[in-house]
Order: sequence, then C-alpha cells, then structure tokens
Amino acid sequence: FDYSLLTGKHVVITAGPTREAIDPVRYITNKSSGKMGFALAEAAAEAGARVTLIAGPVNLPTPNRVDRIDVVRAVDMYETCMEVVETGCDVFIATAAVADYRPTVTADHKIKKSTEEIHLTLVKNPDIVASVAEHNKRPFTVGFAAETQDVMAYAQGKLVNKKLDMIATNDVSGSNVGFNSDNNALTVIWPGGHKVLPLASKTQIAKQLIELIAIRYKD
Ligand code: PMT
Repeated sequence: FDYSLLTGKHVVITAGPTREAIDPVRYITNKSSGKMGFALAEAAAEAGARVTLIAGPVNLPTPNRVDRIDVVRAVDMYETCMEVVETGCDVFIATAAVADYRPTVTADHKIKKSTEEIHLTLVKNPDIVASVAEHNKRPFTVGFAAETQDVMAYAQGKLVNKKLDMIATNDVSGSNVGFNSDNNALTVIWPGGHKVLPLASKTQIAKQLIELIAIRYKD
C-alpha cells in the first residue's frame, strides 16, 4: 500500500444508512452499519488524503485523522454533501445506503393504533451521488451498487445513468458480504474496464479500492 497515493487530495465519503421519520418514535431505515464507508475513510487517510466522512446514524468510532459530520435524514446528507462539494474536493465516494424514499409527512405526535390497516405514503429523496456528478465543481465521483440480482447489469446502468467515473458493486443477497458483515467482495466498473476484488475484510477491500480510485483519478 502506497502511503502517499492521495497526498494533498480532499476525499469526501458518505457512509451508513439514513433514517426517515414516520413520527417522533418511528422511522424507516436499512441494514447498513457504516463499516464499509468507515474502512474507506481510514484507508484514504492512510493514503495521505484529507478526509471528510459524512455519516448516517451508526455505532462506529471515527478513524484517525478523519473529519466526521453526522447526519440523520437523506435530505440532511444531501445538503451537507452539496456544501462540502461546493467548497471543493477531489474525490467523492458514495458508500452510504441512502433511503430512496421518505414518508411524505412526519406526524408531530406518535401515531395511535386504530384501524386494521394504515397506509404510509412515500416520496422520493434526492439522489446525492447523481447530484455530485452533475455539480459544476464535479469531483472524481465513485458510487456503490447494492444488488440482489443481475448485479453487473444494474451496476452498469447506475454507472451510466448517474454519470459516475466508477462504481463498486456488491451482491447483498447473502449475509457473508455487504450489509453489516466485516467482509466484502466487490466488482469495480469504470468506462472501459473492470476489476474483481475477491472476498476479504472490509479493511483490506477498502485499501484495494482506494488504490484503484487513485490510479483512475490520476488518469
Ligand atoms: O455499511 P455496511 O454495513 O458496511 O454495508 C456496506 C454497503 C452494503 C451499504 C455498501 O457496500 C453499499 O453497497 N453501499 C451502497 C448502498 C446503496 O444504497 O446502493 P444503491 O444501489 O441503492 O445506490 C447506488 C448509489 O447511489 C450508491 O452509491 C448510493 O450511495 C447512491 N445514492 C442512492 C440513493 C440516493 N438517494 N442518493 C445516493 O447518493
């Protein structure tokens, strides 16, 4: 591992889930633990970068020499990311499992149990990584894709539709990789190439992905 790969570069990483409130005591979220994003923040700092880690609600210690900003909702993560990109950064890595939808309204008081069936209406959240890729101060933009089927096809689609420079895809249909596991396996795709990073600890996978990003970024 080259400890000067990203010297002088500002790397911004999103990690963890977001939490979308239904009422004061209930919310919608997902199984992301933040481990993959935190491992990437640690690896980027070890590679000499200045690192800003924008984290959803997770239970993890902040890696050494990493600036951390905690957020809860997708819209908060979106606004924080836009502010940081506006001030300038070189690489953006979207590891967070951002909730695609939020409840259209958040009830002011705890919803009472009454009828047999109740309906929750959801509205789409802004797409953070796609907005970063369209920004006029666009950094080198890396997305993740969490899929349970047709992994390569869906990831290719996200690379193109979200106008990304690179996408790291993981199959999250099993429990030995992806969400909450200490291990992961990735297929990293960029326009014109791809590389498989076989099953390893998230710490090791993070170092390999940071190396790949640094090489593609310098190209
Ligand atoms: O946190 P861990 O427990 O360690 O698990 C790691 C992980 C499985 C969460 C991680 O490796 C991963 O795959 N992260 C992306 C999860 C995801 O939401 O994927 P997606 O295919 O739904 O989204 C595609 C990309 O768009 C992602 O880069 C995501 O951050 C981004 N996105 C999605 C929706 C949205 N509103 N804004 C976004 O920026």
